[in-house]
Amino acid sequence: MELSVLMVPAGAAVLLLLLAVLGKARGGSPNPFGQDARRPPAPLVTEKEARRKVLKQVFSQDKVPSGLDAVVIGSGYGGGASEIAFHSIPIIERAGGAVLTKAPVRSILVNSQGRACGVRVQKGHELVNIYAPVVISDAGIFNTYEQLLPEELRTLPEVRKQLSMVQHGVGGFSVFIGLRGSKAELGLEAKNFYIYRDNNFSEAFLSFLNSSRESAPQKIPLLYIASPSAKDPLWEQRYPGKSTLICLAVAKYEWFEEWKDERTRKRGAEYEDLKQSFVDSMMEAILKFYPQIKDKIEYVSAGTPLTNQHYIAAPRGETYGAQHSISRLQAEVTATIRPQTPVPNLYLTGQDVFLGGFPGALHGALVCASAVLQRNLYVDLVCLSRKIRAKGAKMKN
Ligand SMILES: Cc1cc2nc3c(=O)[nH]c(=O)nc-3n(C[C@H](O)[C@H](O)[C@H](O)COP(=O)(O)OP(=O)(O)OC[C@H]3O[C@@H](n4cnc5c(N)ncnc54)[C@H](O)[C@@H]3O)c2cc1C
Ligand SMILES: *[C@@H]1O[C@H](CO)[C@@H](O)[C@H](O)[C@H]1NC(C)=O
Ligand SMILES: *[C@@H]1O[C@H](CO)[C@@H](O)[C@H](O)[C@H]1NC(C)=O
Repeated sequence: MELSVLMVPAGAAVLLLLLAVLGKARGGSPNPFGQDARRPPAPLVTEKEARRKVLKQVFSQDKVPSGLDAVVIGSGYGGGASEIAFHSIPIIERAGGAVLTKAPVRSILVNSQGRACGVRVQKGHELVNIYAPVVISDAGIFNTYEQLLPEELRTLPEVRKQLSMVQHGVGGFSVFIGLRGSKAELGLEAKNFYIYRDNNFSEAFLSFLNSSRESAPQKIPLLYIASPSAKDPLWEQRYPGKSTLICLAVAKYEWFEEWKDERTRKRGAEYEDLKQSFVDSMMEAILKFYPQIKDKIEYVSAGTPLTNQHYIAAPRGETYGAQHSISRLQAEVTATIRPQTPVPNLYLTGQDVFLGGFPGALHGALVCASAVLQRNLYVDLVCLSRKIRAKGAKMKN
């Protein structure tokens, strides 16, 4: 089996908004996939022409609208993803807000005029009502409309219409690896690797999704491998002599669904075996790629779609929320699924109202805040960016 590899430098462009990948680049915007990739270690192949053909299938126009081919961001910020919460919470608190953890919302409160007026939150064994003039849900469109909205509002025609326009994204499978050795010792770099098992990606992907759960692990069509620690400028200070790798794949929720009601870590041997078969197959690919880590592995932890369901409340184990397919990105759907909901004072935010991934979620927040404040925050951002640039130029002078 030959593995094709696509490498994208992560340092210069953590956020790769890949506009018009296949030679359709507008106005000379840099196209990371157009760059020549460094040749990966044997036995992997990066044959330029083969790579071009594989990518053409991934970004074909029946999957992704022309002009927007993919939104990718590399895992790994200085200090890790927890930095996002760490830096956001003080801003919320300075504005008079409070952040509660381990406080699942059980339902959205709606007053007699049908307006959202707060949330009912679980606190230990109790339910506590928290009232608010505006309710913004980041729980995703499915959770918000199908679980949190009072039952009588779930059948509102506009709610039904929006739900009919979205599908669940495919489930995710993740492997997290802890290693002995620094990035220099292990030869890890701040890069994202996308590994294709077959040059006919479309066929491989369909055949994978169509397989039984027993044969699926041997047919994973695409792997993402990166070293979050190698991308983190603060890592060596905090964890000298250690490194991490992450490997992501897709996996169908249905393959794991029968254990959805079992408790984590108590799902039994059959579940563990199935999970392990995915881990083994992914580890095999990782070791082909990084043979030097073979004796340095200290820790391996994996997550199935049920893990995503449990820890991030992804209804069907999705990694990127609702599916952002060509149908989701049609003008009518984009105009219909917006932060405003049919329930006054209730808004949606996050990736489901924009695009999947961290940048998509950030933009979801911007369009949501714009809707709540009735003010185009993108205009504010442009002004802010001009101000910062002018200040920078002044300081240079
Ligand atoms: C393993 C993994 C790796 C990833 N790597 C990358 C990457 O490298 N780059 C990238 O761009 N994206 C990555 N993603 C995707 C990225 O995490 C998401 O796109 C992003 O977090 C979406 O942000 P969000 O705010 O819309 O939703 P989320 O970050 O999912 O936030 C929703 C929050 O709502 C909470 N919630 C749900 N229901 C309730 C309730 N009833 N009560 C209270 N809280 C509730 C959930 O617990 C969750 O914390 C990755 C995802 C996974 C799973
Ligand atoms: C991939 O396989 C499908 C189905 O077998 C076939 O129709 C298609 O032409 C193939 N694509 C490429 C690029 O080889
Ligand atoms: C899916 O599986 C069925 C039965 O196993 C098979 O007949 C069909 O050709 C498969 N389709 C694809 C796209 O692989």
